[in-house]
Amino acid sequence: MLKQSELNEVFYSSSIREIIDNENTIQETIKRIKLGDALIIRSVYSEKLLNQICNYLSNISRCSLPYYQKIEEGCANNHRVISWDPRSYTQSCFHQFSFFPWNQDVFNLFEKAKAVFQLRNLLSGQPANKFLGTKSEDGCIGRLSFHFYPCGLGAMNKHRDPVDSHQLTVPLMLMNKKGRDYFSGGGFAERSDGSKVYFDNLMEPGDILFLNARVPHGVDLIDPETKNPNFINNKGRWTTVFAVNKLHGNKNISNAIDLERSD
Ligand SMILES: [Fe+2]
Repeated sequence: MLKQSELNEVFYSSSIREIIDNENTIQETIKRIKLGDALIIRSVYSEKLLNQICNYLSNISRCSLPYYQKIEEGCANNHRVISWDPRSYTQSCFHQFSFFPWNQDVFNLFEKAKAVFQLRNLLSGQPANKFLGTKSEDGCIGRLSFHFYPCGLGAMNKHRDPVDSHQLTVPLMLMNKKGRDYFSGGGFAERSDGSKVYFDNLMEPGDILFLNARVPHGVDLIDPETKNPNFINNKGRWTTVFAVNKLHGNKNISNAIDLERSD
């Protein structure tokens, strides 16, 4: 009997709409993801748009101070540096840029991400447009989280994310390219025999991965040989996480579990 908590097969689709518009395909996809299969949908965003977003965020990171902000009703978009912060549930090192649906932004990001969030919701048994309004629902809100993992610094411990009423899977988009923009390390998921599947090797910029949140996954250090690594030269791995997060103080949803942390 296959355990549902490790990666099984990876399967592919070329269209989000084809899945969203077909109830049978939704149900079949839910079944497969629950069993540990991971879905990659090809070319959801154009590389041109992704480059514009990465350049914009990179400029923001050079010209404004990062800071921590609780997720609260109506909070501001913001960016922060996470460098093995012991206060985080999952230990990691990356630069995070957060956008919320109640704020307007220069790219109209939530309109562009709508179909991805809709599929995420339908796969979780939720109404398609939940968590995307100007108010939280069930103590949760959608969040677009852009992650920059600098060469020589960026990594995230292997962990499991919670599967709960708000999510079965946390869609993740690769925004640039392994083998061109960085060369080793990157995103992985674990099979039942403990081996790692580096999904960055299977994806092009603009492809989105739908992985069961419970499957152990993480990010191996990007280009460990990098000399003078830093957060501001924009060399590294960029991803987008299509998240639904609990508001600060919501105790109904469990936290991620770091599988490598010893303390
Ligand atoms: Fe995760």
